[in-house]
Amino acid sequence: MIYLDNAATTFPKAPGTLERAVERYRELGVSPGRGNHDLAMRASDAVEEVRARVSAFLGAPDPERVAFGSNATDALNTAILGLVRPGDHVVATRLDHNSVLRPLHHLAETGAIEWDAAPFDERGIVTADAVEALLRPATRLVVMTHASNVIGTVQPVAEVARRCAARGIPLLVDAAQSAGQVPIDMAAMGISALAFTGHKSLYGPSGIGGLVVMPSLEVETSRFGGTGMDSASLTHSQGYPLRLEAGTLNLLGVLGLGEGLGFVEGEGVEAIHAREASLLTRLRDGLAEIDGVTLYRAEGDLSDRVAVLACNVAGVHPQDVGAILDGDFDVAVRVGVHCAPLVHRDLGTIDRGAVRFSLGAFTTAADVDAAVAAMRTIAAG
Ligand SMILES: Cc1ncc(COP(=O)(O)O)c(C=O)c1O
Repeated sequence: MIYLDNAATTFPKAPGTLERAVERYRELGVSPGRGNHDLAMRASDAVEEVRARVSAFLGAPDPERVAFGSNATDALNTAILGLVRPGDHVVATRLDHNSVLRPLHHLAETGAIEWDAAPFDERGIVTADAVEALLRPATRLVVMTHASNVIGTVQPVAEVARRCAARGIPLLVDAAQSAGQVPIDMAAMGISALAFTGHKSLYGPSGIGGLVVMPSLEVETSRFGGTGMDSASLTHSQGYPLRLEAGTLNLLGVLGLGEGLGFVEGEGVEAIHAREASLLTRLRDGLAEIDGVTLYRAEGDLSDRVAVLACNVAGVHPQDVGAILDGDFDVAVRVGVHCAPLVHRDLGTIDRGAVRFSLGAFTTAADVDAAVAAMRTIAAG
């Protein structure tokens, strides 16, 4: 099987990583942060070690401000619900995923907030000017995806952060598609808070992710429960990370994330990115030569993209393209509207969606060539 659905989740994971995580869980699998016995302390130490690695990897100064959750969606909800208040205005972008758009839409529907979405341009970029044009005195938060999960473009978050900082507005970045594929230095880029997910380009298992918060920002607690600390009090612990972590942690997920991170660090983000960008260009060049294939925002130099490409075949429904790729050619892709409805509205693909190819660290040139050949056959009818 040729797996080209890595933007949904990377598959396979790196050799040995899952086995090592399970082995450590077998040794340490008690409740971290709950109890003073030796094993609980060792489990806590293992979690803190991964926290420190995540913060170093993302250029955040304080490991305590890495709050683990179940995925990017969870982290984005935690951040949005913990930052905005009734009467606030929020700016997002039209490239954003439903994990940003739906919390904002929900808050707006209840009458709590107003929000706007900045448009992307012909290159698939949301410029800092486009974001700045929507800022109001009541704007409390700017939130944007770092890399589009539909067209793969990487956004100028550092420039947006500069404009936000000039007005004292925090920038929340959705790094679900970028972490592990694009170098991130939160401090240097001026990012106030960042949501990541473990199971995509960090090569961890599903069910683990987190929110990283810079010391300049406070995120209020929006979910309450046991933390293993201050247990006599009815008030949820207010120190980081417990302020944003309620309930028993996904220890197996944290260990798996640590192993995945180890793989990414070993390969090097720049090296992974360069390899995938070159395969992405090979894929684009191959598809661009096929009559009847429309590519979305895939012109020119792709070296600064994440390895995601959306297209359609004239006269063939994307669901059918996906079914034929799968059934006849053993190529797995994602088809439809990719949880980012405003992108599809702007591309004119909201009704049927698109076929999305997404590459990973284990994709080969032969995989790409086989996918292009399959698409040529489909387009020829
Ligand atoms: C840009 C973007 N943001 C957020 C998410 C949500 O990630 P998760 O499902 O791991 O919460 C995704 C997943 O597809 C994504 O592509």
